Amino acid sequence: MTKKPRPAQTLALARAEHARLGAEIAEHDRRYFQDDAPTVSDADYDALRRRYQALEAAFPELTDAFSLSQKVGVSPSEKFAKVRHAVPMLSLGNIFADEEVEEFCARVQRFLGLPDDAPLAMTAEPKIDGLSCNIRYEDGELVRAATRGDGYEGEDVTANVRTIEAIPNRLAGAPKIFEARGEVFMRHADFRALNARQAEAGKPVFANPRNAAAGSLRQLDARVTAERPLAFFAYAWGEISEPFAATQFSAVEAMRRFGLPANPLTKLCRSAAELLAHYRAIEAERANLGYDIDGVVYKVDDLALQQRLGFVSRSPRWATAHKFPAERATTVLEAIEIQVGRTGALTPVAKLKPVTVGGVVVANATLHNEDEIARKDVRVGDTVVVQRAGDVIPQIVEVVLDKRLRGAAPFAFPEACPVCGSAALREIDEKTGEADVVRRCTGHMVCAAQAVEGLKHFCSRNAFDIEGLGDKQIELFFKEGLIRTPADIFTLSARDGQGRPPLEAWDGFGETSVKNLFDAIDARRTIALNRFLFALGIRHVGETNARRLARNYGDWETFRAAARAPGAAEALADVEGIGPVVAEAVADFFAEPRNEAALDALLQEVTVEPMVAIAAGHPLAGKTIVFTGSLERTTRDEAKAMAERLGAKVSGSISAKTDLVVAGPGAGSKLAKARELGVETIDEEEWSRRAGTG
Ligand code: IVH
Repeated sequence: MTKKPRPAQTLALARAEHARLGAEIAEHDRRYFQDDAPTVSDADYDALRRRYQALEAAFPELTDAFSLSQKVGVSPSEKFAKVRHAVPMLSLGNIFADEEVEEFCARVQRFLGLPDDAPLAMTAEPKIDGLSCNIRYEDGELVRAATRGDGYEGEDVTANVRTIEAIPNRLAGAPKIFEARGEVFMRHADFRALNARQAEAGKPVFANPRNAAAGSLRQLDARVTAERPLAFFAYAWGEISEPFAATQFSAVEAMRRFGLPANPLTKLCRSAAELLAHYRAIEAERANLGYDIDGVVYKVDDLALQQRLGFVSRSPRWATAHKFPAERATTVLEAIEIQVGRTGALTPVAKLKPVTVGGVVVANATLHNEDEIARKDVRVGDTVVVQRAGDVIPQIVEVVLDKRLRGAAPFAFPEACPVCGSAALREIDEKTGEADVVRRCTGHMVCAAQAVEGLKHFCSRNAFDIEGLGDKQIELFFKEGLIRTPADIFTLSARDGQGRPPLEAWDGFGETSVKNLFDAIDARRTIALNRFLFALGIRHVGETNARRLARNYGDWETFRAAARAPGAAEALADVEGIGPVVAEAVADFFAEPRNEAALDALLQEVTVEPMVAIAAGHPLAGKTIVFTGSLERTTRDEAKAMAERLGAKVSGSISAKTDLVVAGPGAGSKLAKARELGVETIDEEEWSRRAGTG
């Protein structure tokens, strides 16, 4: 922000604004340092800081000992460059109960078509509570380091990682291209010493080692990182120019030989019982490790099997995290707030007297839905037990009835939307005749909450990813009537200043931040089909279904024609992975004239790029394949997953669009139909050859 303090401003006004800004900045510092969860963009934060300094420059009397300007280096002021990961950095599924260890092993066996009792080697190692990092070496030299980000794109932290002593700048004997992946974290002793130094210097202290590690790694000034004692354990890899090990366990040993630190508690196990025993051993050691861990990770040892198992959505089938039990604390429920989401769902949120649970201050907890509130009989004013497990939203486990206040009344869940007043209903499931657990506002687009949440989703990271148009800005622009539909975002700059002051004159904005915002919007006028479909916020169309639809239809025009055609729901349900409920939701969306109008307006502004075949080079890419009969070399699930990896579509029924039928023994009517239609038919052996697994 470049606004100059107005000379006519009185000292009293300046003092009030200075105090207000100070409180706001301190709150942002707290979110950044304590929660590692900033709620404003760096640019907005900088604007606040600059305004604050400008006030002090104009009114030196404001600069007292409490002034934030007396503290230095608390903000990440500019931006890190983005780095696209050569191989996505995905996350892990979770298990909590002991029985689930055996279930996990059985699931793996079943997918591979092995008997439940076949020997299966797995590794078990601590799950480090830090932040993951991809470190790329070329010819043994560290050339780039990036944070995980959204898994596909992270932040370039090369300069910072080069200063971390635990991470070698050169590797010995690694493949020509080698991306090491692992966790950057801070040991307890180093964390305590850092906080002591921070406090002494009058700077904010970090809430826990994880936040300290994150805050230290994401420093724009690498000299600051250099002074922070960060540690690292390698446990995975990204792009590699050649295979360097045959098993997970030997891969970790190889990384150690290359010079990378790896966790000494990594163990090779031969059964679910051995995994569980090692889990217990690590759990028993937890307090003595000197660093935070939040569970134990199990991984299939054989890398060829890992390859066959592949991924579901964002997590590998070949690994899971066995989390330690959640931490709990007792506090008072001060209020129950009803939030209205993008799909109109009324969600009760518990407003708690802030309490520390496992090192993090918790002030909100989920109450799930009205049945849950009734079942637990949670009442405002109650003393409750809250639990926090990993990064999931804290939950209320139970009420401490002994401490219930006299006169506390059962909670009456609203039957009207608290935002727009429309009726809020629980839909009746046609099949079961039971009411849905979720009560939904029926106001749709007239409900401001649904519209605003839809816009937030539209701009979010995995959708249009518009930087500078965060939740706060969207709420403000909506309230001011500047943005009501997605298309309005793209006409914002053309309309700026019409009938009202230009944005740069608004409180909290300035010339630079407005220019950045308009640039960020312009940068998103072209978007990939899958992101576009996800951004529309159609019920049940998350990232995975959006990708399935995009891959199936290839381009926007083809998809839209299919979604509007009579009987669309049926045709859509034919797309691999799309069930009838999703298909219905998509067809409903396109049958609604208001959605169509909003889309037309949006398409005046943005261009939707067609999907490039994921594995364009492979002969099976883009082909529609049907599997029928029994398979002997792999399971049906595995064959399907393989086909999808190669860019093919797998369908359940044969039509003129089918390109290839893989028929095993026992194939019946589908095989006959394929012959009738003249579709190419092959056996499993030929399939393996073409898929490259034979
Ligand atoms: S393996 C394909 N091993 O946990 C997934 N992850 O919840 C490869 N993490 O993003 C990850 N310790 O940041 C793996 N020993 C370990 C880990 C570990 C911590 C983190 C990692 C990952 C997250 C997933």
